[in-house]
Amino acid sequence: MKFATAFVVLAAVLGSCYLVSAQSHNYFFGARVPYDTLVNQTTVIQTGAFLRVRSQEVIYPLKGQRGRNITAIYVYDRLGGGRGGFASITSGGIGKNFTRIYLKSQRGNGMNFQVEVYGR
Ligand SMILES: *[C@@H]1O[C@H](CO)[C@@H](O)[C@H](O)[C@H]1NC(C)=O
Ligand SMILES: *[C@@H]1O[C@H](CO)[C@@H](O)[C@H](O)[C@H]1NC(C)=O
Ligand SMILES: *[C@@H]1O[C@H](CO)[C@@H](O)[C@H](O)[C@H]1NC(C)=O
Repeated sequence: MKFATAFVVLAAVLGSCYLVSAQSHNYFFGARVPYDTLVNQTTVIQTGAFLRVRSQEVIYPLKGQRGRNITAIYVYDRLGGGRGGFASITSGGIGKNFTRIYLKSQRGNGMNFQVEVYGR
C-alpha cells in the first residue's frame, strides 16, 4: 500500500518534470483503440491581450448530430515555449458520446490549440 502510494507520487513528480522540460502544454485524455477514427479536429487560435485570460469551449458533436463513443481527446499546444494555455474536460468525455473541452490561456497570453477527438 505504502509502496503503491510512493510510486504514484514519484510518477506525478516525473510527469510534472517532463511537462516543464517539454515547455509545451499538450493534454492527452484517454487512449486510442483499434478501429476508432478522428471524429473532429479543430484549431483554436486567440491572440493574447494585456492582463486578460482568454477562453473558448470546443463542443462535440455539433448540435443535432449523433456523437460517436469517444476514446481519446488529444489537445496539442502549438504556441510552445511554456506560453500555452490549459485544457480540461467539463462535460462528457472518454466513454461518452459528447464532450465539452474548456480551453483557457495564461494571463496575457494567447492560445493556439489543435484539438483532436477520436471515437468509434
Ligand atoms: C468540429 O468542432 C468544431 C468546434 O465545435 C466545429 O466548429 C466544427 O464544425 C466541427 N467539425 C466537424 C467536421 O464536425
Ligand atoms: C448518446 O447516446 C444516447 C444513448 O445511446 C442517445 O440517446 C443520445 O442521443 C446520444 N447523444 C448524442 C449526442 O449522440
Ligand atoms: C462507450 O464504450 C465503453 C467501452 O466499451 C462503454 O463502457 C460505454 O458505455 C460506451 N458509451 C456509449 C455512450 O456508448
